[in-house]
Amino acid sequence: MLKIGVLVSGRGSNLQAIIDSIEAGKVKASIEIVISDNPKAYAIERCKKHNIPYEVVERKNFKSKREFEEKIASILKERGVELVVLAGFMRILSENFLKHFPNKVINIHPSLIPAFQGLNAQKQALEFGVKFSGCTVHIVDESVDGGPVIVQAVVPVLPEDTEETLSERILRWEHKILPQTVQWFAEDRIRIKGRKVIVEGARYGELPVNPALEIFK
Ligand code: GRF
Repeated sequence: MLKIGVLVSGRGSNLQAIIDSIEAGKVKASIEIVISDNPKAYAIERCKKHNIPYEVVERKNFKSKREFEEKIASILKERGVELVVLAGFMRILSENFLKHFPNKVINIHPSLIPAFQGLNAQKQALEFGVKFSGCTVHIVDESVDGGPVIVQAVVPVLPEDTEETLSERILRWEHKILPQTVQWFAEDRIRIKGRKVIVEGARYGELPVNPALEIFK
């Protein structure tokens, strides 16, 4: 069973998607710890409801970013975490943190990266006028939302879309591609060569998700 740690800052709907797919037996992983940098994150309520251990680690309680990150890394290590999942974690992790978990930190971002990295990706997409957007699960490196891509899902952008409607359309796919990626790690099928990530044995070439989902229809 793959041991994962999930880092959150807010609502936690992606955390919930992982919890649900583990409880449904689709993802063979166990959430060893959820760490929130925000004591008010709704994600914490989800942990309580599902008996998942959590800790709040607030940046303001540390003198430096380095100490803050070392604290998070030490909690994850104590719990034996093998894969770190950023699910709406609103902080940029430095190389110091990443070296503790080389190629084992993943993030979900609500755009087709490299388009619209950083905050408010859905708003950026609407303002730019693109006709497709989507979401990406990628390996985290020192760039902001720019690491090697594992999987992407594409959605159309409609003339009447607002930030809310586009976010909702994208979110439905976030909730599938993130648990799916955790399962690929659990199955040890992720191969990384520089910027190129291949999921061994996956089906490539279909829409709207490439490579294709396996644990969801
Ligand atoms: C999602 O849109 C995710 O892509 C982005 O932050 C948001 C988090 O939502 N990184 P939630 O907290 O998982 O509901």
